[in-house]
Amino acid sequence: MKHILIDADTGIDDSLAILYALRSPNFYVEGITTCFGNNCAEQSADNCLRLIQLAKCGYDVPVAVGANESLDGVFGSAPAYIHGDNGIGNVELPETTQEPINETACDFIIRKAQELKGELIIITTGRMTNLAMALEKDASLPKKVKKVVAMGGCYKVPGNVSPYAEANIHGDARAADMVFKAGFNLTVVGLDVTMKTFITQADVDNLCEYCLEECRPIAEYIKKALRFYFEFHRVTMGMAHASVVHDPLAMLIAEDPSLGVYEMVRAGVEYQSERFSGMITTDDGFVPVLDREEIAICIQVDSVKAVRRLFSVFQNMEPGRYNKKKN
Ligand code: RIB
Ligand code: CA
Repeated sequence: MKHILIDADTGIDDSLAILYALRSPNFYVEGITTCFGNNCAEQSADNCLRLIQLAKCGYDVPVAVGANESLDGVFGSAPAYIHGDNGIGNVELPETTQEPINETACDFIIRKAQELKGELIIITTGRMTNLAMALEKDASLPKKVKKVVAMGGCYKVPGNVSPYAEANIHGDARAADMVFKAGFNLTVVGLDVTMKTFITQADVDNLCEYCLEECRPIAEYIKKALRFYFEFHRVTMGMAHASVVHDPLAMLIAEDPSLGVYEMVRAGVEYQSERFSGMITTDDGFVPVLDREEIAICIQVDSVKAVRRLFSVFQNMEPGRYNKKKN
């Protein structure tokens, strides 16, 4: 069992990653912290609370609201045509009585790292601002967490908000630079692999046909949210009834690193130049001893296996299910 903390700017792809984590038998979600990005941190938290209720994971998952601007005080939000006005494709999930905890995201991260005694895995699917703020308060954090897996960056491929930068890293490049250099056992899952992994309408149809009865509301949510997300991919990338897979891929790799192939590099993030802000910079000089200053950048992934696994947690995987249905 992996004990994880998710730090998200809960948009559509974040929501898929969160639902997966809440249903996977391999994860125990210690909590979710939220950040600005796809929308503001409060809206992200509200989305998380509704998703937790939808997932019915059987245990309490605290949610802590985090940063609403970058370390340098800049708020930026994705245009509504990507994730909708509410971040989850304008799908109206039922309200919940659960409220965010009375603790900031960075304090919650520090406390959980301490409590879990080296077992905590942090998965970031948005800006790294909360993690950088936690680092500012506790520089020994990298020694206290098992691993960080971050969706973000573009290593050998173009960016999605500039030719050089991916949105999560660009949104707070200085925070990302801090996290890259802090000495975390860090795996970066960026556009090099997420832009080559696809969800299609056929996956959604399969999910709806074969989902577990208890997961039917989840399947309905995914169907509606992805309809919105597919439309964004159609008008911006010419993709028909399909989308790329950003945040869920980071979650799947956190669960099973063997899905990916990695390059170990000493890396930082450019944050001073306006033009190149958010660009991953690497030091390719020979390093005689591998140490935690190197981070793992995912350069290849088994996309087919990843997407199958993503939907499998919501489905009835019993042999004979298909035959039973036909009879
Ligand atoms: O660039 C993709 C990332 O930006 C994803 O995490 C998406 O949710 C947005 O935050
Ligand atoms: Ca995200």
